Amino acid sequence: MPYTPTKEILDKANRERYAVGAFNINNLEFLQAIIEAAEEEKSPVIIATSEGAIRYIGAGDPHRGTGIIVSMVKAFAETVSVPVALHLDHGKNFEYIMSALRAGYTSVMIDASHLPFEENLRETRKIVEIAHALEVSVEGELGKLKGIEDNVAERESVLVDPEEAKVFVEKTELDFLAPAIGTSHGAFKFKGEPVLDFERLKKVKENTGGIPLVLHGASMVPQDLVALANEYGAEIKGAKGIPEEMLREAIKLGINKINIDTDLRITFNAGIRKTLSEKKSEIDPRKIFKPVFEMVKDTVKKRMKIFGSSGKA
Ligand code: G3H
Ligand code: 13P
Ligand code: ZN
Repeated sequence: MPYTPTKEILDKANRERYAVGAFNINNLEFLQAIIEAAEEEKSPVIIATSEGAIRYIGAGDPHRGTGIIVSMVKAFAETVSVPVALHLDHGKNFEYIMSALRAGYTSVMIDASHLPFEENLRETRKIVEIAHALEVSVEGELGKLKGIEDNVAERESVLVDPEEAKVFVEKTELDFLAPAIGTSHGAFKFKGEPVLDFERLKKVKENTGGIPLVLHGASMVPQDLVALANEYGAEIKGAKGIPEEMLREAIKLGINKINIDTDLRITFNAGIRKTLSEKKSEIDPRKIFKPVFEMVKDTVKKRMKIFGSSGKA
């Protein structure tokens, strides 16, 4: 299947009411595991790279990093039967966004959510104009990613305002919107019980002309993998993610792209610790990576089933 525009993948998901995983990668092994999972699940897939991943792969040079990543992802896409897109995650620096556009990413995120609303709108509009001229789609973000307590004043200050979302989408003409509804990045999402503001999500979908919506900070943080990592020497305490039923509810209410990084990191961590501890005399990195790779693949396949993208390619 050819390398596929992100918009084509997400518009179909939106019409058919499921979500596609955007899985973060930092190296070849993660990319391989995600692509194999997609092929086995017959699922469309979005590969995501942060600015940090681009720096890591390009040894500090964003042009080099984005160029290598595009070549790798295109080469993988051409060898499988499922649609594969490539997305710049949390683009904050103009240089990285331009590098991704020049290299051939199929979508970019402009994350100006830390700025006041009008500035976020201006920055996002600027990127939309450039990216659309190159037929690349754009994701923007509104609100701040932060776990929430049951406190109305706090919610209003960090979560997306559905009225602002309406204006933001109309004026920027962006393709996908990430509304903050109470998720946060990393392995420690909630101090107490998980809370997401679904009422707000519903209003955002209604107010934004039904464009695909994106859920960041969506890792489930599987407790069995956290326990496995800890059993082999990790010290991850109090980690908590998004429960499966909340992800399903978010998809029902119009989420079509779900960002996953932490779950892959935890899987990798558990896998590498266990493998190194069990294969003490092994020095061949392929034999060390193979079981870890299988574990990452398994995590990705589980997410694809929950998101409803399995069988949709
Ligand atoms: O949302 C951020 C992703 O998890 C990427 O994180 O900047 O550490 O690569 P990173
Ligand atoms: P997690 O940290 O929950 O995996 O979120 C990843 C993310 O939002 C990447 O943009
Ligand atoms: Zn994110």
